[in-house]
Amino acid sequence: MIKCERICFSYPNSPVQVLRDISVVIQEGEAVSIMGANGSGKSTLARCLNGLLQPSSGEVWIDGLNTRHKVDNEKIRQKVGMVFQNPDHQIVSTTVEREVAFGMENLQFEHDEMHATVDHLLEEFNLKGRLDHPPHRLSGGEKQLLCLASVLAMKPRYLILDEPTSLLDPYSRRRILESIFKNRSKSIEKLTPILITQYPEETFYTNRLLILSEGKIISDAAPHEAFKEAGKLCRLGIGVPLEYALELEIDLDDHRVERHSL
Ligand SMILES: Nc1ncnc2c1ncn2[C@@H]1O[C@H](COP(=O)(O)OP(=O)(O)O)[C@@H](O)[C@H]1O
Ligand SMILES: [Mg+2]
Repeated sequence: MIKCERICFSYPNSPVQVLRDISVVIQEGEAVSIMGANGSGKSTLARCLNGLLQPSSGEVWIDGLNTRHKVDNEKIRQKVGMVFQNPDHQIVSTTVEREVAFGMENLQFEHDEMHATVDHLLEEFNLKGRLDHPPHRLSGGEKQLLCLASVLAMKPRYLILDEPTSLLDPYSRRRILESIFKNRSKSIEKLTPILITQYPEETFYTNRLLILSEGKIISDAAPHEAFKEAGKLCRLGIGVPLEYALELEIDLDDHRVERHSL
């Protein structure tokens, strides 16, 4: 269980409160999405959830471990995998294959298990033909796939995806999300994904949508419930699926509306 208790956050030397009194509990086995306008605090919240950032006040607990306790940092990072918005911030190795194995080596997985996992993930994410490639020569979309494979290799319990499909074409977006969400029970044991996205249609892979506005959670509901407030969301700069916008006769030219269904 991930539990945030009244967390607030400001960056050093900045008076702006980026997260404001966020309390939320995410149970194992849930699939959660997060939407919010640019700058609403989504990435900051993600970093608080895996202990990369400490809240200025309030507490974050991961399966009973408090992110403030330095001794538990490593355990927390393994439990809460994170795929960053910008893949260049994440890649550290000289070849694609080593990158996928890197985290597993650090965590001292058995040799055989490591090989089988790396092999399976390279296949799953269409990177098999690229195993000796230097990651910096991959396309943006391939880098995103590589980051995802590398994080999944470490078998996290919770997986935070911070706009993981922003560089992918619609076909690859769907493939990735299906592999994470639809096969959760089969290939990726007990994974609890938390998907930060700007594509409203992607939230339907999850059963719970949190909406952030100026550092506050303003809605916590099933996606189809949340989008009933399409007018309000559009005014906050949050995309809604086309059919919800049409119902309300919102002027599509004035607001961000997702026009491409998955
Ligand atoms: N390292 C940083 N130092 C100072 N301010 C930051 C830093 N990172 C983000 N911010 C500010 O925090 C706010 C929230 O940013 P972020 O969490 O990245 O939002 P989102 O992911 O929703 O776009 C923004 O106003 C942003 O400018
Ligand atoms: Mg962000």
